[in-house]
Amino acid sequence: MAKIEEFRQIIEDQIRMLDRPVRPEGLYDPVKYVLSLGGKRLRPALCLTSAALFGDYSAAVLPAIGLEVFHNFTLLHDDIMDQSSVRRNQPTVHEKWDNNTAILSGDVMLIKAYELMAKSPVGVLPQVLEVFNKTATEVCEGQQFDMDFEKTTDVTEEGYLDMIRLKTAVLIGASLKIGGILGGGSLRDSSLLYKFGQDIGMAFQLQDDWLDVYGSQEAFGKRIGNDILTNKKTFLLITALNRLENDSKKELLSWLERKEYLAEDKIAAVTHLFDEAEVSDLTRKKRDEFFFRALENLEKLGGNKDIKNELQTFAHDLMARAR
Ligand code: IPE
Ligand code: IPE
Ligand code: MG
Ligand code: MG
Ligand code: MG
Repeated sequence: MAKIEEFRQIIEDQIRMLDRPVRPEGLYDPVKYVLSLGGKRLRPALCLTSAALFGDYSAAVLPAIGLEVFHNFTLLHDDIMDQSSVRRNQPTVHEKWDNNTAILSGDVMLIKAYELMAKSPVGVLPQVLEVFNKTATEVCEGQQFDMDFEKTTDVTEEGYLDMIRLKTAVLIGASLKIGGILGGGSLRDSSLLYKFGQDIGMAFQLQDDWLDVYGSQEAFGKRIGNDILTNKKTFLLITALNRLENDSKKELLSWLERKEYLAEDKIAAVTHLFDEAEVSDLTRKKRDEFFFRALENLEKLGGNKDIKNELQTFAHDLMARAR
């Protein structure tokens, strides 16, 4: 069995075994709900794999779960912010319960995440926490930029790339780096792991933006067109704004300003304008730039060759993902 599959099993078992108080149900049921809906378990899988590069990964197990719990916490709050009603093909927590529940259950998950990170061996704990704290702060910064950008059309490609680096890429970089630290990798290796992860994370978010328009809802597990409805300044939208001219550009801008419309009309019209601007291929091209740069950094990395190959396969699979 491939190592990574073995890790996925460990992750699922650990998540199931997480000790979760029962009462008050209103606080803990949503935590159980979101953690049991699956998800790709990308961050903990990467964390365990990068630890295994250097030998024994056992010290990374609980912190890896901490990364997944942290990620799921961000999703609870993100879905309120993005008014998303479906995730992993199920109603989002704020939809199934309400906003206040999603806020508070999210809060307790953040605390749980810290509890799990703190299970790192004492010798490396300060290092792990330093990476984690920096990353968690950056995710908040990225999320704020993401919301700020909804309200303006004045977002450059560079501004977008920095925003997704903060909201998404750094956590993937940190998952690999923390794994490297916990597995006993050198400073050089953990820094290469971070670079690899960050570029994979950039490619991953570009793919997520693409799937939000061109994916299948069934596979993606989220409602297609949500980014269009919330005026997200995705790579697709920014590229379309840069490339369209005259009436087409005016039409796109008018959709961004319109307050009354049927959701399906706006999604269809904006997607049509994206097609006209050929943003689908351009987004995938940009995604591949990051992907190939990520692979270059992986090449330079030390550690077990077979595990490195697993990381490479994993990265390839992620780029082909439909969910
Ligand atoms: C969703 O992350 C949020 C983004 C950064 C795009 P994932 O796509 O990893 O979500 P799950 O955990 O697999 O559901
Ligand atoms: C998610 O970005 C980033 C974080 C959750 C921090 P998105 O808003 O694009 O993620 P999805 O599409 O809702 O999963
Ligand atoms: Mg969001
Ligand atoms: Mg969202
Ligand atoms: Mg998205």
